[in-house]
Amino acid sequence: MKINTNYLDLTENYLFSDIAKKVSAYSQAHPEASIIRLGIGDVTKPLCTPVIDALNKAVKEMSDADSFRGYAPDKGYDFLRSAIVKGDFESRGCDIDPDEIFVSDGAKSDCGNIQEIFDKDNVIAVCDPVYPVYADTNIMAGRKITYLPCTAENGFVPDIPKEKVDIIYLCYPNNPTGGVITKAKLQEYVDYANKTGAVIIYDAAYEAYIKDDSIPHSIYECEGAGTAAIELHSFSKNAGFTGLRLGYAVVPKDLIREGTSLNKLWARRHATKYNGAPYIVQRAGEAVYSAAGKEAVSKQVGDYMDNAAFIRRELKSMGYEVYGGENAPYIWLKTPDNMTSWEFFDYLLDEANVVGTPGSGFGKCGEGFFRLTAFGSEEATREAIQRIKNI
Ligand code: MLT
Repeated sequence: MKINTNYLDLTENYLFSDIAKKVSAYSQAHPEASIIRLGIGDVTKPLCTPVIDALNKAVKEMSDADSFRGYAPDKGYDFLRSAIVKGDFESRGCDIDPDEIFVSDGAKSDCGNIQEIFDKDNVIAVCDPVYPVYADTNIMAGRKITYLPCTAENGFVPDIPKEKVDIIYLCYPNNPTGGVITKAKLQEYVDYANKTGAVIIYDAAYEAYIKDDSIPHSIYECEGAGTAAIELHSFSKNAGFTGLRLGYAVVPKDLIREGTSLNKLWARRHATKYNGAPYIVQRAGEAVYSAAGKEAVSKQVGDYMDNAAFIRRELKSMGYEVYGGENAPYIWLKTPDNMTSWEFFDYLLDEANVVGTPGSGFGKCGEGFFRLTAFGSEEATREAIQRIKNI
């Protein structure tokens, strides 16, 4: 028996588990402390009424023999895949077919699993700093990773890789920096992939937070992206499904490598390892695209973005160097007085009982930075900022 020794190349703990442990140890040592969590990007608003109504209706259907549903189709119910195509792609002029949509239990699983359809010898390019899942899952598979520096100087959008890479993970609006990519720059990546045969994995989990109309919501807004990219979407950040779990991957039929359709490979993988998202959750997802759902979800997103604007404005007025938070729910700040990211984490926890995420946990280029999320309640966000002011 041999273990997968690639796991030994990972950091000992997953970033957010490390933070949770530290915070729990602090709470035990300081039971009187009222801690405000602006660390992990978890939503705080309850599910909106159209989603709750859809869930209730679907639960009722499940209690009746005539409307009960067992295993869901592994790619997702037609009602949801059609709603997705209409709501997320047709409206933006992107030519996506329901057969190219694979419904899942969330974008994190898709981010982690998608690498299974690619050979071990592919060279992987990820941004630095980066959402750890893209890098960690490829390290687990034993792949070589190239890190693309994302700095204030390049607006947190990496230059096109100089050496040949095979798979490029991009996430815009970006987690963790809150940066965005222009359509022209994204087009350069699409052209690079089409020219070299690389594949882009585009994580669009935060697209609902885009306010600036010139910024692309989907990579398929770029010409030729159907032969270059897979796109991942989440219902967590826009509609608050972090606890319900729902997402989807788009794998275009025209995305062919070595004569093989990646759509077919992913369909094979999905059917073998996944039994479909729950019926009631897919009905809840469908409700997000109804007129009432769209209105409620956009109000929630707007409220979180009010938090983001507040955090940005207040931190700036305190003299912090601040990025993000304009088209993304994350605020990325430079730590003061040359503190390391973890020193600043401890400082904020000790002095203000506020939890954020150390930038260095996302990669070397994140050292000296710190992430705050706008997903807190308005009261908690205001209280956290006041406490930081009072230090
Ligand atoms: C984050 O805080 O980076 C995200 O919430 C993590 C995730 O979506 O899995």
